[in-house]
Amino acid sequence: MADGDFKLSNVQGDIIVGLSKKTEIFFFFRVVNGTAFRTQLKNLVPLITTADQATGERTAIRAFKAARAGGANGVDGQTTLGEITENAPLLSVVGVNIAFSQKGLIALGIQDDLKDPLFTAGQRGDAFDLADKGTGNTKENFKPDWDAAFLQEQQAIHGVVLVAGDSFESVNGKLEEVKAILSAKGTSSIAEVATLAGDVRPGEFKGHEHFGFLDGISQPALKGVDNVGGKKPLPGQSLVDLGVALLGRSGDTVKGRASWAKDGSFLAFRKLPQFVPEFDRFLEEKSKPISDDFDDAPTPADILGARMMGRWKSGAPLRITPFVDNPVLAADPQRNNKFKFNPKSQEMCPFSAHVRKMNPRKDLDQFATASIPDPVAPHMILRRGIPFGPEVTTEEKLTKSTRYERGLYFVSYQSNLSQGFSFLQKRWANEKTFPPQEPVEPGFDPIIGQAHDEVRVMTGANDDNTNEPLRLDRQWVQSKGGEYFFSPSIEALNHVLSS
Ligand code: HEM
Repeated sequence: MADGDFKLSNVQGDIIVGLSKKTEIFFFFRVVNGTAFRTQLKNLVPLITTADQATGERTAIRAFKAARAGGANGVDGQTTLGEITENAPLLSVVGVNIAFSQKGLIALGIQDDLKDPLFTAGQRGDAFDLADKGTGNTKENFKPDWDAAFLQEQQAIHGVVLVAGDSFESVNGKLEEVKAILSAKGTSSIAEVATLAGDVRPGEFKGHEHFGFLDGISQPALKGVDNVGGKKPLPGQSLVDLGVALLGRSGDTVKGRASWAKDGSFLAFRKLPQFVPEFDRFLEEKSKPISDDFDDAPTPADILGARMMGRWKSGAPLRITPFVDNPVLAADPQRNNKFKFNPKSQEMCPFSAHVRKMNPRKDLDQFATASIPDPVAPHMILRRGIPFGPEVTTEEKLTKSTRYERGLYFVSYQSNLSQGFSFLQKRWANEKTFPPQEPVEPGFDPIIGQAHDEVRVMTGANDDNTNEPLRLDRQWVQSKGGEYFFSPSIEALNHVLSS
């Protein structure tokens, strides 16, 4: 399949580049008037941020920061501070994207089968297999313990508008513009089902998720996007086929999809509350005392947390620096992702550590074939989530229990849900024998692994005796629902979904 005709301007910006976000609003809606929606959507398309626009915005922001820091030339010595401030509106960037559930496509009269059974059934239909908490012990009678918005049968979610930018005011203002377009001429074509807002954490915690770990370090690079025009992947970054992210491109192995689905991507949304004080209490209670007494010696709790995540809170990978954190290394993109695991050994990083379960670099090399030289590559996802909820309060720290809901609005893009998000959750995070054929059972991913009735256990937490099992008292991440969406190309938005 040739990708020669590929254009960033045909792809929504959150998929490939990622919308710049300090704040992001997810506006979940249902279509109440399909005919009016299709007409109004035509007027919304010019507001949709494409991947080439998102690239431009990122470059402008980086240049602005570089110029401000250096006072001289910015990125590549091309852009000066004067030039950038002249273009100041660029820096108040707000991006808009839109995606539809299967029920949403049907509400618009689109009957084509996108050939992804998980998308067709919706995430509610996948909840039992994902091992979300709920009542009932079969797929048929299972009712997940989800927020009402994601459980609606009659008022089901048809789509989501994602609005991301530099402040709540600007993002909210843009959302009002979107809503005005979708209710033009006195006809409102949509009804709100839920509005959720996420925020990057404040100050020194910027970029860190609520347990405290730096997030957004490792993403796959895409062929034809990240290795052209003088660009090359960062050290350790996997270069994968464009079709891992986009339908109808090289590497998308599903046949017979509607031609208009090309350059679209499936979006998996999950609301994932995190029980932070409880997580911290576990780390304090279950970590083994250490005798090291040097200046930067990590605390026992920090060591156990790092062994569960596979990186220190700074982002430094355990595989490179297993005994002590290294914030300088963590901040260096040339080094912070440049590692492979040592198959059969979990001395440096547990087999079950979150980043090893989610990207078992080299652990699966024994399964490589001529057609799939890197067995991890087909399962790679583009992660675009954002934290939500307040910082942990003093009261919560003292009582060691959660009072205010906080966590991660998880978003991932992939061309195939049963190879991407859903696969990672079910076959790797929740599967205690994964990675396979290790000398000792790895156990569950301690961060996101889930089981219906089983007490979760991991090995490798104790670096003095990596065979020792550690019982994980509870789940500190517990899904409250979500949906599977399809984020269409700009051409499809213009010519197939609108009229
Ligand atoms: C990496 C946290 C949910 C897939 C990471 C990293 C952190 C993290 C701190 C390391 C930083 C990085 O490499 O970018 C969390 C938390 C979650 C969560 C706190 C839930 C609240 C998920 C879910 C999935 C997932 C649901 C997919 C099923 C990944 C992947 C990586 C990653 C693919 C990159 C691994 C690599 O390439 O080395 N996560 N994550 N995460 N996570 Fe999660």
